Amino acid sequence: MHEDVERILYSEEEIRAKVALTGKAISADYKGKDILLVGVLKGAVVFTSDLMRALDNDVNCEIGFITARSYGKSAVSGGKVDMDDIKRQLGCEIKGRHIIIAEDILDSGLTLDTIKKGFLKESPASLKICVLLDKKAARKADITPDYKCFDVENEFIVGYGLDYAERYRCLPYIGVLKKELYENAINTIK
Ligand code: IMP
Ligand code: MG
Repeated sequence: MHEDVERILYSEEEIRAKVALTGKAISADYKGKDILLVGVLKGAVVFTSDLMRALDNDVNCEIGFITARSYGKSAVSGGKVDMDDIKRQLGCEIKGRHIIIAEDILDSGLTLDTIKKGFLKESPASLKICVLLDKKAARKADITPDYKCFDVENEFIVGYGLDYAERYRCLPYIGVLKKELYENAINTIK
């Protein structure tokens, strides 16, 4: 285990099993349909790439990625989303498509709520949210995931794509970061 990690919440094996189940659930719901699986960078890159390989062959899955950071230059910031930029990033229209947005963690929910509203304005055939982790205690927006792998407490999580200041994304497991490493900085790091 990495020395900055306090404890492992979910091992590689547990993640693999849960992502496989989530892939099966999505496959059952979208059998014979074409979907556009949209991964939210950077945190969902690992989850999205495992999830798309967990789908059955009778789901036609196109993938795309969007950036959605709550700071700096991004298509999503301060509760607004630039859908022209999102469509440019995806390289396709959203209208009439079955969209599944894959995100690493639903925390306050403000980012995904903003993205969801932006996508809905583009008249998709359907829109669902699939998250690796649900941190319910931190929720501010009224948003619930359609698919989720695991619940987590209100702690700072790293690994399997999730970072703290761009570190720890490469860890193959999901763990809790030692508190002394992020105390006093939790609101400045997203
Ligand atoms: P929200 O808008 O508060 O739901 O923010 C969601 C984003 O914040 C996620 O996509 C993550 O990038 C980041 N985030 C929230 N909680 C954590 C965490 O515990 N570890 C790592 N990143 C987190
Ligand atoms: Mg992040």
